[in-house]
Amino acid sequence: MSELLRVEGLSKAFRVGGEWGGRSRWLRAVDEVDLTLADSETLGVVGESGCGKSTLARLILRLVEADAGEVVFDGRDLRALSRRELRAARRHVQIVFQDPYASLNPRLTVGEAIGEGLRIHGLASAAERDARVAELLEIVGLRAEHARRYPHEFSGGQRQRIGIARALAPGPKLVIADEPVSSLDVSIQAQILNLLLDLQRRFGLAYLFISHDLRVVRHLTDRIAVMYLGRIVELAPSERLYTRPQHPYTQALLSAVPAADPGRRSRRIALTGDVPSPIDPPSGCPFHPRCPLAEDRCTRERPELREVEERHAAACHLAPFQE
Ligand SMILES: Nc1ncnc2c1ncn2[C@@H]1O[C@H](COP(=O)(O)OP(=O)(O)O)[C@@H](O)[C@H]1O
Ligand code: SF4
Ligand SMILES: [Mg+2]
Repeated sequence: MSELLRVEGLSKAFRVGGEWGGRSRWLRAVDEVDLTLADSETLGVVGESGCGKSTLARLILRLVEADAGEVVFDGRDLRALSRRELRAARRHVQIVFQDPYASLNPRLTVGEAIGEGLRIHGLASAAERDARVAELLEIVGLRAEHARRYPHEFSGGQRQRIGIARALAPGPKLVIADEPVSSLDVSIQAQILNLLLDLQRRFGLAYLFISHDLRVVRHLTDRIAVMYLGRIVELAPSERLYTRPQHPYTQALLSAVPAADPGRRSRRIALTGDVPSPIDPPSGCPFHPRCPLAEDRCTRERPELREVEERHAAACHLAPFQE
């Protein structure tokens, strides 16, 4: 498999506060993230709310401009492209948002919303566009005549199908799915996940699949990156991450998930306390205030993300852990 996306040292801090004469401070939303994604691969990005997942997605797409780092897609550094070049490159990198209610323009018909990407990229004449929209609607499990309706006429699950059709329209190689099922009823979630899997097989898509819930990504992903306070703290092939987690934070997230295999032996780690603020992150290992294994040096030295087993990286002084 060849490399489709490479992210290196990607960082973004937001200036917050400063209103009413107060002091403004920097919030490090994404901090020196490195990752790669191969053609047709699915990389999961998992972590609690606020750890920087959506910001990472927006930085890759340049919906938000990074402070530092590289985003190389299909051999081109997206951060170095002009606005025009970027618009052309976006044909191949599309996003599906968490909230299909907020992400669809209520004044556009479904057909207009899906056809927009074809129009922007000059991919079809007006006549061809209707046929292509009809085809896309059927591909995502809707009907051709739905093109004339408006988003409010659809359920949450149907709207997410429309969002997926819109992302597919320009023929992307990579789809960034930012919590695509988090706002849907549990009964609908599996249908949408199955649709995403089918589309991947059919069109050879690569996915960057973002979720706050480890359960959702298990059967969908080839590898998983776990984020904590803007940084990747563990990165491994999915099954390995579930069976041999090498970071206490991942172990804690897994302890919170009811075991799929009740016979499996697991280190039980309870997550205590709230996520610390990314404005004033803890010294040393950012996880140390919540880590039951923390030692003295964890409060002083920040562990780098390093390979602790083959193809398995973790940012913890104590890794690798023995069974
Ligand atoms: N535009 C912004 N201005 C200030 N802070 C932001 C902005 N966008 C995100 N943040 C902050 O950055 C952190 C990461 O947010 P986000 O990427 O949305 O996390 P996630 O998607 O993992 O929930 C949070 O602390 C959030 O409040
Ligand atoms: S470096 Fe220390 S505080 Fe951080 S996860 Fe490892 S043991 Fe816990
Ligand atoms: Mg988010």
